[in-house]
Amino acid sequence: MARLTINGKTQDINVDPNTPLLWAIREQVGLTGTKYGCGEGQCGACTVLLDGKPIRSCRTPVSSAAGKRITTIEGLEQDGRLHPVQQAFLDNEAFQCGYCTPGMIMGAVALLTSNPRPSEQEILRGMQGHICRCGTYQRIVAAVEQAANRNG
Ligand code: FES
Repeated sequence: MARLTINGKTQDINVDPNTPLLWAIREQVGLTGTKYGCGEGQCGACTVLLDGKPIRSCRTPVSSAAGKRITTIEGLEQDGRLHPVQQAFLDNEAFQCGYCTPGMIMGAVALLTSNPRPSEQEILRGMQGHICRCGTYQRIVAAVEQAANRNG
C-alpha cells in the first residue's frame, strides 16, 4: 500500500512499493497521459514532476514518491485553461505522433521553472534527455521559447 498525492489528490494505492511510479499512475490511478517509452530512463516519455522536479517515472519506485507532490500532464491545466507550455506546444504544432509530448511538456515546465528565460542553447541543453522520434525538435524549441516569453 502506498499513499500518493497526484495532481493535488491524495489516495491510497494497493501496490508493491518497488513498482515503478509510472505503472501506479497509469494502471492504478488511470492517468494515461504519462507514457512508457524505453523503460530505462533514457527517452523522457514518462517524465512527471516530483515536488516540482522532473523525474523518470519508469525508474522511480512508488516508495520514493510517497509523501511528495506528484504532477502529471493531467495536472497542468487550471480551471479549464491549458498551461502556457501546453498552449505553446499546440500553437507551434510541436509534435507529430504526439507520443513524446506529455514528457516533453513536463520537461519544459521544469526547465522554465528553473530558468524562466532560457536561450536557445539552454533550451536545447535542458531538453536534451527528451527524445522525439518524429524529429520535431525545431518546433519544440519554438514552443518553449514562446512559453518563456509569456512567463511573467
Ligand atoms: Fe522512462 Fe523512457 S520510458 S525514460
